Amino acid sequence: MYQEPYHFPLERYINAERFERVKHFATGKQTPLLIIDLDHIEQKYRELTSCMPFADVFYAMKANPMNEILLLLNRLGSNFDVASRYELDQLIGLGIDPSRVSFGNTIKKREDIAYFYQKGVQYFATDSEYDLINIAETAPQAKVFFRILTEGTGADWPLSRKFGAHSDLIYHLILRSVELGLTPWGISFHVGSQQRDIGQWDDAIARVKYLFDAVAEEGIELHMINIGGGFPANYVDPTFTLQEYAAEIGRYLREDFGDDLPQIIIEPGRALVADAGVLVSEVILLSQKTRSNLYRWLFLDVGKFGGLIETINESIKYPIYFDKEGISQEIIIAGPTCDSMDILYEHYKYHMPDTIQPGDRVFIFTTGAYTQSYSSINFNGFPPLSAVTLIKKDRGVI
Ligand SMILES: Cc1ncc(COP(=O)(O)O)c(C=O)c1O
Repeated sequence: MYQEPYHFPLERYINAERFERVKHFATGKQTPLLIIDLDHIEQKYRELTSCMPFADVFYAMKANPMNEILLLLNRLGSNFDVASRYELDQLIGLGIDPSRVSFGNTIKKREDIAYFYQKGVQYFATDSEYDLINIAETAPQAKVFFRILTEGTGADWPLSRKFGAHSDLIYHLILRSVELGLTPWGISFHVGSQQRDIGQWDDAIARVKYLFDAVAEEGIELHMINIGGGFPANYVDPTFTLQEYAAEIGRYLREDFGDDLPQIIIEPGRALVADAGVLVSEVILLSQKTRSNLYRWLFLDVGKFGGLIETINESIKYPIYFDKEGISQEIIIAGPTCDSMDILYEHYKYHMPDTIQPGDRVFIFTTGAYTQSYSSINFNGFPPLSAVTLIKKDRGVI
């Protein structure tokens, strides 16, 4: 049987200089450890704003709420999409002006709406009448935007069903908002996270156009389209580039709305921060279930409860690199807890070199988004995932 050497396309995920920096920094440090490269986030932000010059960025801070990231994005001019009063308080604590915040969660307590409004937040998302009434009564001058339902088809991490309402209901909510004395400001949607099918924006924008026109017939002018997140990060399965997404989405917008676009908002999370993260982990154990088993099980010191929850259903496939040479072997990868759902990849087969042993380090790329903030506090006694940020030595920090 021909045995192939282990190969991993390292340069697709990290350049050699940055990888050396990460490895050097991690040497001697306890794992698991998430290392975030702030320079990379800055580069992504500049890329995104230059290929979507028509859009205001509201960073979805749920993707990674580390203070250093928020301060960096604030310095670069980003606004913030916020899901709770705790996130708002964090921004205020960092000196970030609440007028640059959007309360993007459609599920919110009445007192939290009042709290956001008192602090100076202007933008509020909604998709239900109860919520609309709460906004009208506690945030009367708010810029309200209405979230339409999308199917999430084509997304690795769909957000369907829970958020948004059908256009028909949204139309009635817009009219109702006027009766309640509010100013309906715009329409939002989210096509699902890590959306691979750019055409999903086309469908959603067409629905937004229909709503703009329908309410215009009732004398209501809308001013804003929030086209959400869903832009890609660099996981195992390739996607189109950010530039290709931007060009297509820009074309869809102009086809429906002409050159004089309304205010366009984007709420990127994953696309800004995911690629900046390298999770350094350690092999705890290798095993097999019988002596003749085809696949070996590899147990890492990080798993579903330590930050890799998006491996549920093997939805997000992180690039996992073993920094050794050897013959390539297919493996099943699992985490360290005494919980049987803590299996990362069983159906999709990852590879490792056959020289790997317990104690070896493993590098998991594209882990800057939806990892540390998702990790459990104390499950099985394991602490939450530790994370640090790096910027280049020549800029004075590490
Ligand atoms: C309202 C809202 N906006 C933006 C995002 C960010 O999406 P993504 O990480 O795909 O860019 C999310 C993610 O859950 C969201 O719920």
